[in-house]
Amino acid sequence: MNRWTFALPLFSLPLLALLAVSGFTAPKETVVAPAANVDRSPIDIALFSDGRRALTANATADSVSLIDLTAGKVLTEIPVGRRPFDIALRPDGKEALISNTLANTVSVLAINGDKVSVLRIIPVGDEPRGLTYIGGAVNGVAGNKAFVALGGESALAVLDVTAGKTIARYPTDAEPWHITVTPDGKRIIVGCARGRSVNLLSATTGKKEQTIKVVGRNLRHVAVSPDGKWAYVPTIAERMLGVTRPNIDRGWVVGNRLTRVPLETPEDERPTREATTLDTQGNAVADVDGLSIRPDGKQIALTAGGTHELLLMRLTDLPFIAFGGPGDHIDPDVLDDPQRFRRVKLGGRPVGATYTADGKSVAVANYLLNAVQIVDAASGRMIRTIPLGGPSQPSLARRGEAIFLDGDRSFNSWYSCNSCHTEGHTNGGNFDTLNDGGLGKPKKTLSLRGIQYTAPYTWHGWNKDLRQVIHDSLVNTMQGPEPTAEDVAAVEAYLKTLEWKQSPFRNPDGSLTDAAKRGEAVFAAKDCNTCHAAPNYTTPRIATVGLEEKDDFYKGYNPPSLRGVYNRAPYLHDGRARTLEEVLTEYHTPSQLTGKPDCTPTELADMIAFLKSL
Ligand code: HEC
Ligand code: HEC
Repeated sequence: MNRWTFALPLFSLPLLALLAVSGFTAPKETVVAPAANVDRSPIDIALFSDGRRALTANATADSVSLIDLTAGKVLTEIPVGRRPFDIALRPDGKEALISNTLANTVSVLAINGDKVSVLRIIPVGDEPRGLTYIGGAVNGVAGNKAFVALGGESALAVLDVTAGKTIARYPTDAEPWHITVTPDGKRIIVGCARGRSVNLLSATTGKKEQTIKVVGRNLRHVAVSPDGKWAYVPTIAERMLGVTRPNIDRGWVVGNRLTRVPLETPEDERPTREATTLDTQGNAVADVDGLSIRPDGKQIALTAGGTHELLLMRLTDLPFIAFGGPGDHIDPDVLDDPQRFRRVKLGGRPVGATYTADGKSVAVANYLLNAVQIVDAASGRMIRTIPLGGPSQPSLARRGEAIFLDGDRSFNSWYSCNSCHTEGHTNGGNFDTLNDGGLGKPKKTLSLRGIQYTAPYTWHGWNKDLRQVIHDSLVNTMQGPEPTAEDVAAVEAYLKTLEWKQSPFRNPDGSLTDAAKRGEAVFAAKDCNTCHAAPNYTTPRIATVGLEEKDDFYKGYNPPSLRGVYNRAPYLHDGRARTLEEVLTEYHTPSQLTGKPDCTPTELADMIAFLKSL
């Protein structure tokens, strides 16, 4: 995996800490740009105020490219950490931050004209995602600072960028994804993907000031209107109804929305979210993600990765509705005027998008095309495509990933595999996929991490053949066209690239904490390992554990692997338990399962420490 001579092993936290303290500088002569045939998969883009240069975060090349938009070429490319996700560019254009989701770090880049170098690497915590610089003092600390969302820890970290360390940490709702700051620099807006909420935090104290629940989930990029009145975030809405074609086309399985929350609600009133629907019956949009508001506040650009397009919408008269919701199909009036609502097909998977400073065009990071695209904001005309590098032919796994991300594989293009299994993990929602043999019992979306080690499949564990599950997902869950054998093999190859992550609840060297060691003994003493056996804490058996539902078509459940369980709430087949504590004290207790006495409070705390370390 270590493509760079100085690349860091994923979990060498002590080394990272050392580097952070010593102000690590990448030795220039050993920096090797990714080979030409590596997929770049740009996932986000930031533009410099000179209107000429841009930076991209290249998700699968573990690199950053500095590009010249006018000349249409890459100026330089440098390696960062594993799985870059978001970029924050300091307003003076001399420094930038990149979150490295799988390395648990933030890279600090120095930018000098057409040159970029890594200044230092800051270890930040589990699954760093959205990040933003912040101008004023935080908790009394002034200087060069940034906020970064830690998706796996449901927290925000405040970084002292110059010192290369975390100076504070504040809790958020589950799985913070992208973040932004209000134009006055006073508040941080956090979209919580599995928390189903927007958190507003004070940028000076980190205190959570407001939590605004949204209807739906999968919150992605967040943008604030230039007047500071609203924060916008794309979401999906679900009704947990069965995956029949009529239900899908009514928008009752997954619907795609643009949600906004007010930022200036008086203290004594409750802020209410509003939303507008983006889907046309018979021709929906899928996987809305990237978002940018034109500097004049009059247009909004939104990418829909699943349907390979960019939506350009007049923001001033989009019909946002608060109470009762916006309905499941787009208001037909909106479609009458292309200046009001335009769908621009870009191909591939457009993700991050941002307006140029003059508001005339939108720069889009297109993940599957390995390219940046520049689109005219008024006409939707493609101005330029800038290739970042990649293989001439996609690998089998890459073809599988493209299918996984493709909304057109579902009936009338409402959703992709990725809409529910975000990045191959889970979006935490319950969906009624027919995988349990019938309608009416929505189940929690299973994470696909480690899938190659955990046959049999589905909650009931009735299916032993991964290819069959993939086939059924394409044909039943998606109600899409019959796949070829090659399609199925490609998706399988992609799913086999999805690995569990090392838990952040371990010691920096990867060993168990003392509490987790005690918990391991409790786990064994309560005979939990009869069903959840090491190394992957599952067994192929089907067990009845008292959670069966009336008229279940398949009897009993397959013990889910407990690897990565720390970052998978809610729990159990219908997501009924919000925490591990709830699982073990209310629904899945030792006395019910193995006849052993239930845990004492100390045993329970230790057991949870152990489970979180898996
Ligand atoms: C609408 C949401 C949704 C979509 C879209 C979706 N899935 Fe799923 N998936 C689920 C749910 C819910 C389950 C659990 C169902 C059950 O066990 O009865 C599941 C289960 C699975 C499993 C079994 C996992 C395990 O550990 O046993 C696989 C594999 C899978 N899905 C792959 C896919 C693929 C590939 C696609 C796209 C072709 C896809 N899914 C699309 C929601 C979805
Ligand atoms: C007889 C087999 C069996 C034993 C023994 C057992 N489990 Fe389970 N476990 C299961 C099954 C089956 C499920 C899924 C049940 C469901 O969702 O309805 C499950 C689910 C879980 C979950 C939720 C996982 C998730 O992703 O939602 C946790 C956590 C868990 N078990 C921990 C334990 C612990 C700790 C013990 C020991 C006290 C234990 N289990 C003993 C079979 C077992």
